[in-house]
Amino acid sequence: MRSTRGWWIVLGGFTLIYLGNVCLANEVENESPAEEVIRTTEASELASQEQEQPQHLCCVKHERMIEVGHGMSDQMIQVDVGHCRRLCPRHVVNDPGDPGRPAIQRCPIDWHCRPNAARLERVSTLQGVRIIEALDSCDCTPKQSCTREPYNYVVYPGTPHQANMDVGMCMGRCSGRGFGCKPLRNRTISIVGPNGDEVHQVIEACGCSGDCYRMTHIETVLDFSEIEIRNGTNSAEVKPLVRAIDVGQCVGACAGKETETCMLRDKKDPSRCLAGLYSKQHSCTPARFKIHEYRSRRGGMREIIAITQCACV
Ligand SMILES: *[C@@H]1O[C@H](CO)[C@@H](O)[C@H](O)[C@H]1NC(C)=O
Ligand SMILES: *[C@@H]1O[C@H](CO)[C@@H](O)[C@H](O)[C@H]1NC(C)=O
Repeated sequence: MRSTRGWWIVLGGFTLIYLGNVCLANEVENESPAEEVIRTTEASELASQEQEQPQHLCCVKHERMIEVGHGMSDQMIQVDVGHCRRLCPRHVVNDPGDPGRPAIQRCPIDWHCRPNAARLERVSTLQGVRIIEALDSCDCTPKQSCTREPYNYVVYPGTPHQANMDVGMCMGRCSGRGFGCKPLRNRTISIVGPNGDEVHQVIEACGCSGDCYRMTHIETVLDFSEIEIRNGTNSAEVKPLVRAIDVGQCVGACAGKETETCMLRDKKDPSRCLAGLYSKQHSCTPARFKIHEYRSRRGGMREIIAITQCACV
């Protein structure tokens, strides 16, 4: 009686071990190559991820070499401009230049992995100095509707004119076909370079727009319309109204269909058009306007035209 029970226990134990091995084998088979790369090399993570879906993804700056130009000994100069990917590398290397910052960010599985800092590298080539935007780091952002996100730029890195600025970046969801997250308002800032002041465009606001759209562009005028200029009035005392008018500007591209009608087709290959009437390339131009009136110092009425809508014409 006792020995039979012992056999059952042994047999049960074997069954459990066998089942366990089958499960492990299945897991290995089901693992797609992509998933394998996503997983980190840390054993503890692997163990916890085997049971459930992975909770985190990596967000890493990967290398992307581009050729910039020729150097003095005619060799091709290559620069790593980097790109952000949601794959974990097999070997984790932290940035030697910045040990405080891990090279790998972990983010929830439904977040974006995006560039968040770059530097404008100046590469000296035989063709002159080329300015290359090279990524410094990537970061995770929750998926959200279109907003402005910070994007830090270092200009003149490693030179006496090194300066930082947040040029901004538009990202996020836009509903509606053909709509994208675009800059709606820019500002320029100037930094001092070795050749004088340099002007850089910085994104201030983002929104959902089509390919050809209106961006904010401000003009200011001095409006004297609320001031009665009499003969005795000292002109220094006159305080006109400062009016900032958003006159707008049309930016973006137009997907214009180029060929209108084909007049002569190739007899052997009718898909080839030998002569055609081409319509003009569509361009993003102002389509609707609003007139703002103001009075100049001399008292005359002036007008300023503001664009309210842009269209592909
Ligand atoms: C607005 O700023 C961004 C970022 O610098 C730039 O890429 C874009 O061309 C600017 N747009 C206009 C219309 O200047
Ligand atoms: C202002 O002065 C000019 C001459 O200097 C005169 O002809 C004109 O009538 C005056 N206007 C008023 C509103 O006083």
